[in-house]
Amino acid sequence: MNLFKTTAAIALAFAASAASAQTIKIGFITSYSGLNGNLGPYMERAVRLYIKMHEKELPAGVKIELITRDDTGPNPDKAKQLAQELIVRERVNLLAGVIFTPNAMAIAPLATEAKVPFVIMNAGTAVITTRSPYIARTSFTLWQSSFPLGTWAAKKYKTAYTLVSDFGPGHDAETAFTQAFKEGGGNVVANVRVPLQNPDWAAYMQRVKDAKPDTLMVFIPAGKTATAVMKNFSDLGLDKAGVKLIGPGDITTEEELPVMGDIALGVTTVFHWSAAGDRPANKAFVAAWKKEYGAGETPNFLSVGSWDGMALIFDAIKQQKGKLDPDRTMEIFKAHKNPNSPRGAISIDPETRDIIQPEYLREVRRVGGQLVNAEIETLGTAVKDPWKELQKKK
Ligand code: PHB
Repeated sequence: MNLFKTTAAIALAFAASAASAQTIKIGFITSYSGLNGNLGPYMERAVRLYIKMHEKELPAGVKIELITRDDTGPNPDKAKQLAQELIVRERVNLLAGVIFTPNAMAIAPLATEAKVPFVIMNAGTAVITTRSPYIARTSFTLWQSSFPLGTWAAKKYKTAYTLVSDFGPGHDAETAFTQAFKEGGGNVVANVRVPLQNPDWAAYMQRVKDAKPDTLMVFIPAGKTATAVMKNFSDLGLDKAGVKLIGPGDITTEEELPVMGDIALGVTTVFHWSAAGDRPANKAFVAAWKKEYGAGETPNFLSVGSWDGMALIFDAIKQQKGKLDPDRTMEIFKAHKNPNSPRGAISIDPETRDIIQPEYLREVRRVGGQLVNAEIETLGTAVKDPWKELQKKK
């Protein structure tokens, strides 16, 4: 009896120590080279900062191992190969990251097949989350910004021209904006799609100038392309010709504002976040970033998607005491609520696994010598992906 009791106690102690020495492996795929190669670090830095600041909240003995991979830009074959390797060889518990829609779409079937929850921290085409029940998204959809942008613009302008990168999120931005602008009584004079990489911006801007719209709505995949748009818009004299540049927040991404300079002043965008937002949680986030990475550094929207994605992952780890079951993880994701995101209150829509979040009207202004996306109006506090809402009505 005594012997049995002792053996059982030892077995229990072993089980407890095995359970407490738990490592959660996250396969983190983003772009460190190619188009937007400078943006991967904005995501990874957010993930590492979140872990550093919150790891003490993890159950005792639980550690996180981040395994990073470079998908080299919009490259679905590469992304798929990396996800496969992370699942099969590294046996990751979760997949996360991903800037580009085509890459997210390529990974989706693998997440389903292997039952590996996949947290999308940037890619913004509405349809992505429908491609696997193991996907949850903490970034945004282009519909969430471009639809309210169209509604707002229709109250100010009679004619609009749209210019978007010719891939998923560009098509969504174009469709959402056009639908809302027309519903608001506006007239869309042209919908033009440009190649994703190295379009001849001067030629496209000349065509816009010739069409003389009141406003030009642009979507491009943030990064350096945003500055190329701004520069060509100004060089071709569209601002002087009276055309107003607007778009989802990708066109005035934080890290490019100092490079753009004054030509960005007055550009109006709709987005779910700005580094200049004066919510206490946002101020704390930006301050923590500067403390960690330097006073001259500012996070961008990819950082916020990644930061909130880690809060989502931490929620699942904490609730399961470090032992992750993929289906239980997805249930926790679907119930996730965060009243204190840097962007305001957010949650995951249990029906679609997409983020519900605020949308702000912002204008580029000079504040304290720096260009910022000043939040000038809250257009909605709990905006669901409008594309999915419209699908439900069909
Ligand atoms: C996307 O591929 O979904 C994407 C890329 C860059 C952005 C937004 C969306 O700025």
